[in-house]
Amino acid sequence: MRDIRISRVTAFLVVTVSAAGAFVVGACGSDGEKGETGAVGAPGPAGPVGSTGPIGLPGTPDGGTGALSSACTTPCHTFNGVVDQWRFSNHSHPQQNEIGGGACGNCHALDGIQQRRANVYNVPPDAGVAVGVPNGHISYRAANGATNEISYGGATTIGKIHCSTCHDFNTTNDPHVTGKYTAGSAPVRVPGGVNDTAIVEKSEASATQTTGQSVSYRRGNVCVFCHKSRKDVTFYVGASNTISNYRWGPHEGPVADVYSAKGGYHFAGQTYSSSAHVTDPRMADACVACHMRPVKANGDVPDHTMKPTVEFCRSCHTSYTGSDFDVQGGRTLVRKALTELQTLLDERGLLTRAEAAPYGALDPDAIGDGQFHLDKSRPGSGPGGANQVLDAATAGALYNYFIIARSKDLGVHNPTYTKQLLWDSIKQVSPGNANPTSLPGGRPQ
Ligand code: HEC
Ligand code: HEC
Ligand code: HEC
Ligand code: HEC
Ligand code: HEC
Repeated sequence: MRDIRISRVTAFLVVTVSAAGAFVVGACGSDGEKGETGAVGAPGPAGPVGSTGPIGLPGTPDGGTGALSSACTTPCHTFNGVVDQWRFSNHSHPQQNEIGGGACGNCHALDGIQQRRANVYNVPPDAGVAVGVPNGHISYRAANGATNEISYGGATTIGKIHCSTCHDFNTTNDPHVTGKYTAGSAPVRVPGGVNDTAIVEKSEASATQTTGQSVSYRRGNVCVFCHKSRKDVTFYVGASNTISNYRWGPHEGPVADVYSAKGGYHFAGQTYSSSAHVTDPRMADACVACHMRPVKANGDVPDHTMKPTVEFCRSCHTSYTGSDFDVQGGRTLVRKALTELQTLLDERGLLTRAEAAPYGALDPDAIGDGQFHLDKSRPGSGPGGANQVLDAATAGALYNYFIIARSKDLGVHNPTYTKQLLWDSIKQVSPGNANPTSLPGGRPQ
């Protein structure tokens, strides 16, 4: 057992939002005074035979309240603590380019959620009225009937999914201010109670207004604010659809649309259902149940790497012995089906890898190559180079391809719904509306 000296107080970037919504970024503080020798930490648990146990928690410079040391270390600034976990996730990527002037900051800006929760946003001058913004809704109907997106209402130019993006840290609970952390003192900005809801963009088929649809994912509600398609398919896919832009379709990461079984294009006469991954009570926290497992070594604080664990899968898939997520070969199957759909869409000239005209002939190597994340909608491939005009069901098949491809889970999120969408979409675009060859045994139930 060793004494640990707290030799410096780490300085942090303190970010506060002024009344006007502008960001004031404080300068980094200088190193603090050298603290006094801490008390001896509590002994660690016995190590394996022959070796010493882990080093105990550091002592405190203030004579034993435990306040300062636990504020700095557990659960945040330890090796592999919450801060390291977050750094390891893509949430820590800088996203300056993604803020722009329009809707982008709602999800890419440091304070995007804070602004939306406070019902602060802009609508372009098209006389639209937005509803449900504090529940994550971003679509609204403009006076001319078009479905638009609210613009980001904040002023920050820093694009980053940081602690304060999701958590309401303020002067009363910020450990950098209070000098302490107590479990439960890091409230999430989006309410996660049993009756709290978040909104996915697609409205009910019968809707005449852009209302979206509510989901109730408890601690997962916050994820729905950002990880969705940004498209209200009920209004987005019409009787005739002109693909005039390679960006046609859902945005990156439309996970909530697939997980909820509400956000795909639903073919006439078909019904859609969800897997146990949605309906089982153990999944009540939805995204958080799989992506933020409690970390034993860190006081059971949820894992901020956002990486799912196979151990959790095994809690239900008890006989699964693999080390990846291809449980029951489910991902292999979905990869096959998605490749079949990709091939069919390629052959109909509906996909491209280019982001500017001329789109030219399709690269034969790209046909059905399984590089789903590279695909975009292909404008200008109709007769005489004109933009293709697609009927609702064909546009729907293309749309469904993108929500599954861009969720990057290969069918884990909602296996049943994913396979139903794939079945219907493949049938729609295959010659003679043939059944998929990749999905044996009929339409998945
Ligand atoms: C509803 C929330 C939301 C809005 C609004 C939004 N995005 Fe995103 N965006 C996301 C999410 C979530 C991801 C990450 C998806 C993933 O990686 O699975 C993403 C990813 C991206 C990526 C890819 C980043 C990468 O590293 O691969 C780009 C580029 C991007 N967005 C640009 C934009 C632009 C430009 C706008 C505005 C026109 C915008 N986004 C609006 C949520 C949003
Ligand atoms: C993408 C959203 C998101 C980001 C970014 C994020 N967290 Fe969390 N955090 C959550 C969610 C969701 C929970 C689970 C909430 C619960 O258990 O009540 C959580 C839980 C916690 C907890 C335990 C719950 C509590 O109240 O004590 C702590 C501590 C915490 N986060 C700290 C941080 C820190 C520090 C950062 C930045 C390094 C951070 N989080 C970044 C979403 C986020
Ligand atoms: C404020 C918007 C926002 C919220 C809230 C949010 N995310 Fe993200 N998330 C993003 C963006 C943007 C990216 C892509 C970052 C990049 O690649 O540059 C991303 C990336 C991811 C990734 C990609 C893989 C990785 O290694 O990071 C996962 C998984 C993820 N988020 C899960 C979650 C979960 C689970 C929640 C809820 C607890 C959540 N996110 C909440 C915006 C958000
Ligand atoms: C709460 C229990 C539970 C957990 C946890 C769980 N699953 Fe499942 N999963 C099921 C059940 C039940 C089914 C089959 C019926 C269904 O899909 O509704 C299933 C089906 C699947 C399928 C489809 C298999 C096929 O035959 O096509 C895949 C893939 C899958 N799970 C992967 C995972 C992965 C990966 C994880 C962990 C990240 C996981 N599951 C966690 C209960 C669970
Ligand atoms: C059944 C467990 C489970 C649930 C519930 C779940 N996910 Fe996932 N998710 C996974 C698995 C497994 C992967 C694939 C991870 C991999 O390939 O490493 C994944 C992949 C992702 C990715 C892409 C990560 C990457 O590599 O870029 C994002 C983003 C994501 N999930 C977000 C979410 C969001 C948001 C929700 C809630 C709406 C959610 N997930 C619900 C298990 C789950």
